[in-house]
Amino acid sequence: MHKVLLTDNIAQEALDVFAEHADIEATATGTLEAKELAKVLPDFHAIIIRSPTKLTADLIEVGASLKFIGRAGVGVDNIDVEAASKRAIIVMNSPGGNTVSTAEHTIAVMMALARRVPQADRSLRAGRWERGDLKGVELSGKTLGVVGLGRVGREVARRMLAFNMRVIASDPFIRREVVEAMGVEFRELDVLLENSDFITIHVPLGSDTRGLIGADEIARMRKGTFLVNCSRGGVVDEKALKEALDSGQVAGVGMDVFETEPPGKHPLFKHERSVFTPHLGAATREAQIRVAVDVSKNVANALLTGEIRDAVNTIA
Ligand code: MLT
Repeated sequence: MHKVLLTDNIAQEALDVFAEHADIEATATGTLEAKELAKVLPDFHAIIIRSPTKLTADLIEVGASLKFIGRAGVGVDNIDVEAASKRAIIVMNSPGGNTVSTAEHTIAVMMALARRVPQADRSLRAGRWERGDLKGVELSGKTLGVVGLGRVGREVARRMLAFNMRVIASDPFIRREVVEAMGVEFRELDVLLENSDFITIHVPLGSDTRGLIGADEIARMRKGTFLVNCSRGGVVDEKALKEALDSGQVAGVGMDVFETEPPGKHPLFKHERSVFTPHLGAATREAQIRVAVDVSKNVANALLTGEIRDAVNTIA
């Protein structure tokens, strides 16, 4: 019998996938503290997690029977992939299921930032009628810089072209022709930073992208740029960002992700002109079902047939 543990309250539909296979026994829980997880992990051949569970090297070591780690989502920065590879454990993610939700959330944050929607809501509820003080800016005619033109970046770019924005993008892994075929202008990152009114970041967190947008990059931006980050905390240096908001170099930020999550009372929160959400990019009913089902099918298939799909690591 293959035993699979699903943590982080993964959508029920994942259990339905495993219920179709008599040789697999799936157990679902909420998010477990590391100590609790360490107690149960040795029994399981596969584990499926969302972002709250951190699969550290120590936990991976404890999971003596583990063969597969499934990530119901895209980012695998909460998994020590190197430690998994050393133990010949395959890590699989679900790359496409939450793309549209994350793109839509990015746009929601960008529009809320431009038109001051959260501030207007707070002000009206407090009994005020501040139409003059809550003036926003239009997106139409402005330049949007998309940093990272992977799945989510592309969906954002396509939609914002329909808002009549000029869209420029930088991505070292995508060919200029592919970018231009979308009606998007290809630029080096520095040039993008210098020429955008709004900048939105869509890169994974890794050693090459940690601090990608720091003090030097922010200094290159136009004064009064709006910055949106619905990708990963840590890609933007929060200390540099706070200084830029204090000085007005960055007019406002729309942030869904933080270096530490949850961020507690973050110093950035004093900036009224900015918009913050608690890592909600993929938090739609549709996306959560899709990623849970996709990764569960891959894990079930891998356990039963050895066929691997959507692996993010290779093992010797
Ligand atoms: C992802 O990496 O898929 C999203 O950020 C959602 C999440 O972390 O749960």
